Amino acid sequence: MSERSGAGGSHLGRTSGVAVVGWGVALPDTAVTNADLEARLDTSDRWITERTGIRERRIGGTTGQLAAAAARQALIAADASPGSVELLVLATSTPDQQIPATASAVQDALGLSCGAFDVNAACSGFVYALVAGAGTAGVGARRVLVVGADVMSRITDQGDRSTAVLFGDGAGAVVLDAVEGPGQLLGWDLGSDGSLRHLLQADVGGYIRMEGKEVFRRAVRVMVDSAEAAMARAGLTLADVDLLVPHQANTRIITAACERLGIPMERTAMVLDRTGNTSAASIPLALGDAAQSGMLAKGDVVLLVGFGAGMSWASAVLRWGP
Ligand code: COA
Repeated sequence: MSERSGAGGSHLGRTSGVAVVGWGVALPDTAVTNADLEARLDTSDRWITERTGIRERRIGGTTGQLAAAAARQALIAADASPGSVELLVLATSTPDQQIPATASAVQDALGLSCGAFDVNAACSGFVYALVAGAGTAGVGARRVLVVGADVMSRITDQGDRSTAVLFGDGAGAVVLDAVEGPGQLLGWDLGSDGSLRHLLQADVGGYIRMEGKEVFRRAVRVMVDSAEAAMARAGLTLADVDLLVPHQANTRIITAACERLGIPMERTAMVLDRTGNTSAASIPLALGDAAQSGMLAKGDVVLLVGFGAGMSWASAVLRWGP
């Protein structure tokens, strides 16, 4: 065991905000196109594209491998040494093992010596992990690595056309640094309605089962409510949003939510067509893609909105830039 195997802090005399100082993404090499699915399932490129917006998804690797790859990139982008990370929070609902947490494998792969744990809030997981990480910074952690990673292909029945077309694998990560003052996380909203958990579930060792239509209907509603709540807590209005980063599950869910929120698609980050639904990875993948493609400028207001099994939802408002 390393000499220093954890980091702690106290809220006494210190209140810190956080800033995103680096980000990274990882996707497996193997692409599965709609044409590939058409060849082995009773489905069509047209059905998948029209009903979901997905054209291909990436498949392969383990959650730990993808998480470590994205996190390594984020550390390099932040110019952060492994030894400077004081907490690792990994959001996933597809851990590589039941015990230990996959965060342990990621910690080892990256040469970190800090506390490490998994968060499972399904597709809302990354935003839950972000808020948990920021909270730890508020009580003394100076640098927190937050990762969302999922290998959904492992829990998807590849013979079931109703789910096989939707999901993919991937990871995204951000480095959060504690800063003086309020920092960049301006507002957040986390929620869950456990009475709806039957709508989307996978037993231990089993495959995803989902009531697609009902998930769709509720997803739009919770996205709108949660986005409004987080923006209000940030003291902002929806007109202030420069970039919306929604959970990438279905283009029709996103466009319906955008319409109700009054946010145009030009101000919405989209990677769904290339990735499918990557669960906890989807928001950091879309955020990283937007940052990479120049959609973000210093001072921009970025609204992250997730929803998923549980039924869970999660929003966070970030002020972008150093
Ligand atoms: N290819 C072709 N046909 C398909 C199909 C596929 N991949 N999957 C389902 N169908 C069929 C159904 O069997 C049904 O046929 P029927 O009318 O003969 O019974 C028909 O298409 C319509 O199915 P339905 O489920 O009503 O379609 P839909 O418009 O609701 O779209 C989803 C299905 C899954 C795309 C949509 O409900 C959805 O995206 N829901 C949200 C799911 C989600 O995002 N989950 C993750 C949340 S984190």
